[in-house]
Amino acid sequence: MIAKVKGTQDILPAESGRWQDLERVIANVSAIYNFKEIRTPMFEASELYHRGVGETTDIVKKETYDFADRGERMLTLRPEGTAGVVRAVIENKLYADPSLPLKYYYVGPMFRYERPQKGRQRQFHQFGGEALGSLLPETDAEVIAYAVTTLRALRLPNVKVKLNSLGATASKLQYRDRLIGYLEPVVAGLCPDCQARFRENPLRVLDCKFDRENPILVNAPKPLDDLNEADALHFAKVKGYLDAMHIDYVVDKSLVRGLDYYTHTVFELEADLPSLGAQATLGGGGRYNDLVESLDGPAFPAVGFAFGMERLLLALESVDQGKRDESVHCFVIALGDVAKPKAMELMTGLRHGGLIVDADFMDRPLKGQFKQAERLGAAFTVILGETEVASGTVNVKNAATGVQETIPAANLYHYLIEAFRAMEHHCDGSCDGSCGDGCDCQ
Ligand code: HAM
Repeated sequence: MIAKVKGTQDILPAESGRWQDLERVIANVSAIYNFKEIRTPMFEASELYHRGVGETTDIVKKETYDFADRGERMLTLRPEGTAGVVRAVIENKLYADPSLPLKYYYVGPMFRYERPQKGRQRQFHQFGGEALGSLLPETDAEVIAYAVTTLRALRLPNVKVKLNSLGATASKLQYRDRLIGYLEPVVAGLCPDCQARFRENPLRVLDCKFDRENPILVNAPKPLDDLNEADALHFAKVKGYLDAMHIDYVVDKSLVRGLDYYTHTVFELEADLPSLGAQATLGGGGRYNDLVESLDGPAFPAVGFAFGMERLLLALESVDQGKRDESVHCFVIALGDVAKPKAMELMTGLRHGGLIVDADFMDRPLKGQFKQAERLGAAFTVILGETEVASGTVNVKNAATGVQETIPAANLYHYLIEAFRAMEHHCDGSCDGSCGDGCDCQ
């Protein structure tokens, strides 16, 4: 019998439904954010990844599948999607499109020669999004919101957004010199991998996976502390926009990421779920303002992310599948003709925020509507009548606790997101309440 190649997986018919569901959510969320699908080849000239991803990265040094075709061309199976998208943008002169930024997403197999384990294969799939042509911090925030909304639409709990900034290339190089100066005399105190990395890719030493508590690393200067005024302002604005969108994040000053092309904002999305095993990172991304130019295109700043789709599916295994498939987040009850258009407006806003929302479309009496909310497993019921419309409020009832509150209608989305976050927080007793998840373990 010829077995499948190590690190590859069959997606059998019993599994393919879950993939199709995931792809549907991705397509829906991408449509809402107006990201259009792009499909690029699965192999490219090897040089694209050497120059794009970076000669000294682990991916290019140890993980690419390189081969010579029968015409002696050096080719590489794509280890990631960004470099291929950038090549397509340059080759097809998409940068000349007047409707910038270009907003593209992709879904497909990637190939890395890694040691296979749960959540890590040699052929795996990514969903990635790239916004090209905009320098603005609004775009960084938009791209992060797009990634976070995907996780919300999948109803994945306990997701952490880690954020950092490396600054523009000039800041990054200046910081790199400073870090080399700091590490040079103490390099023998680093783990063997980091000693090698120090010579080739010193920034990567910062996010050493084996030796995180090493005082040399803890006390090392961090990129964020070396940002010039303009770069610091960019980062502050990204954080401000995330705050405005109620997207939680933690600044992780040691976050560097494994690809060379990043400048300014870098981020990772992590989920703390048992089914993920050691691979808690669902996805990551950041800004890459110089990549297009370094691949012979024009100056064309960009920002993007990618998720590992196997990891998203693994993460979903920890979520109660039955409940996830059948229940709605919120059922809206409008009492009377005045409330109905307002209810429709609220429902549209909640749905665009990735929540599953339903209402009565059978003219049921009030009691029947509550019954319908219960049948649909609605976690919250929102009730509004003429009085609420006049005062700009809604009543929100939590199905689990029976508690009903009156809140400003404009706060409804935020209120529900906060409530879901509090419900998802599984306190293990070690929390001092500082998590901000609204748990009561203080
Ligand atoms: P990356 O961090 O190398 O970034 O990969 C993104 C995600 O792909 C990872 O967080 C992980 O979930 C998944 N992944 C990576 N390697 C494997 C593997 N061997 N098996 C299973 N899943 C894996 C990038 O690829 C960048 N291109 C992201 C980006 C887009 N940055 C800007 N735009």
